[in-house]
Amino acid sequence: MAKWLLVNNEIKNVLDPAFGLGIFSRLLISQNKDLNIKGFDVDPVIYKSAQQNFPKNSNVQLFLEDYLFNDWDNKYDGIICNPPYFKFHDYENKTTLKEIKQRLKINLSGFTNIYTLFILKSIFQIKENGRIAYIVPSEFLNSDYGTYVKDYLLKSNTLRHIIIFDFKENVFDDALTTSTILLLAKDDNTDEVQISKISKVNELNNISEYIEKYPKIKGEISINKDKIDPNIKWRNYYQKQQSSKYKNLIQFSEVAKVVRGIATGANDYFSFNVQKAQKYKIDKNHLLSCITKSKDIENPFFTTSDFETLKNKNANIFLLDADKKQQDENVLAYIEKGEQEEINKKFLTSKRKPWYKLENRIPPPIWVGVFNRTGLKFVRNEANIRNLTTFHCIYLVDNLFNKINIDLLFAYLLTDTAKQIFDDNRREYGDGLKKFEPNDLNKALMLDLSKLSKETSDKIILLYQEYRISVIQNNENNELINQINNILRKEYET
Ligand SMILES: C[S@@+](CC[C@H](N)C(=O)[O-])C[C@H]1O[C@@H](n2cnc3c(N)ncnc32)[C@H](O)[C@@H]1O
Repeated sequence: MAKWLLVNNEIKNVLDPAFGLGIFSRLLISQNKDLNIKGFDVDPVIYKSAQQNFPKNSNVQLFLEDYLFNDWDNKYDGIICNPPYFKFHDYENKTTLKEIKQRLKINLSGFTNIYTLFILKSIFQIKENGRIAYIVPSEFLNSDYGTYVKDYLLKSNTLRHIIIFDFKENVFDDALTTSTILLLAKDDNTDEVQISKISKVNELNNISEYIEKYPKIKGEISINKDKIDPNIKWRNYYQKQQSSKYKNLIQFSEVAKVVRGIATGANDYFSFNVQKAQKYKIDKNHLLSCITKSKDIENPFFTTSDFETLKNKNANIFLLDADKKQQDENVLAYIEKGEQEEINKKFLTSKRKPWYKLENRIPPPIWVGVFNRTGLKFVRNEANIRNLTTFHCIYLVDNLFNKINIDLLFAYLLTDTAKQIFDDNRREYGDGLKKFEPNDLNKALMLDLSKLSKETSDKIILLYQEYRISVIQNNENNELINQINNILRKEYET
């Protein structure tokens, strides 16, 4: 990143918008003693430590100020940054969004991650022939909130190289995310964007070479800027899409709708096991059956007898269904206890009226696990109970023209083919963790099962029913799912 800035001989003024302890400045100064560097940080403890590394009269000037609200009038030859990463609804500072929108005259989605705002402001602050290097999570390349940043990167004509870290192990301690380095320049080489994937540390040498010889050599993938669409997941440009192997695909949202589970804002308070219900004398009329932890679900079918087993194990499988109008004195006492403990003042509870009334989400026929290492985990909710956010809910779309048999759909969801195609739309975190937001699944593709003949669907359903029995009898026979998978591959592979 430092090299990208330093290869520009005319570099004089550099900005580090999220200075921290100043690793970038130490590197830059060790290579070029004449630089003037400005750094911002909002953390007084970090600021104090950083000041000790960079005494007042050095060529590094530090400011204990919020980058997003300051320094709008200055422009720089080089900007280098490892910004903070957090989502806006944690940050809760809508004024920041307003500031950026007004200054840059662009539209921003409400749920924005702060690092994307740092990038936007830095593009605004770069001089002619200036360079920018940012290290950020890869997530924005493939998520809805990233669309406007990608749009701005393209419209500003500054995006030159995207370097995607595709390490199998987690190289950045504690960072539950994969990273991307963005190299930007305000020069005339606007025709193409390079993309490189780095899966081993020594591959970074290729990037060094690219930087030294810029703009003469290309990255691993080189795309004409006009062919890049900010509205799609950019994974399409750097990763082979599994769906391209199949014909007759439709969007998942045509047959089913994925929505997140119930968010309580205080799971410990709202969830109950049998003992806790007895302790607070909460009658079963005021409790809803609900899965609160994904580890309580061990296999793809969750039956009423599984529910009874969990209940007997004293698992947390109930949710408070409170209403003051019901005038139940024990429920009223429990609500009062919540207020004493200030549960009503938490982030989500404080936004509800009344704070203890949970959203009414009917039990979905299918659950899907949202965060896992081994691929998507689909569960048939035969017990017909509710779920917290540990699972997303999948409801079938009630469409006269596209009425799908739930057994056929669930049989499909259990296959590797379905999981591979969904994988095109996943978000990646470091350490092999994968995550899907509801919309990643809604917008994903699936095989159009209505194209199957009645005979083939019946065959799949028979295999599926046999598989279901094998699971329920504790003798799971995965071979049956493999057979379904093979039938589908034969029908849909191109
Ligand atoms: C990922 S760290 C950067 C580390 C830095 N490159 C180093 O050498 O230590 C992000 C830094 O941004 C700071 N920060 C968070 N919000 C900020 C804001 N609005 N303006 C400026 N700095 C901010 C944090 O305090 C933190 O030190």
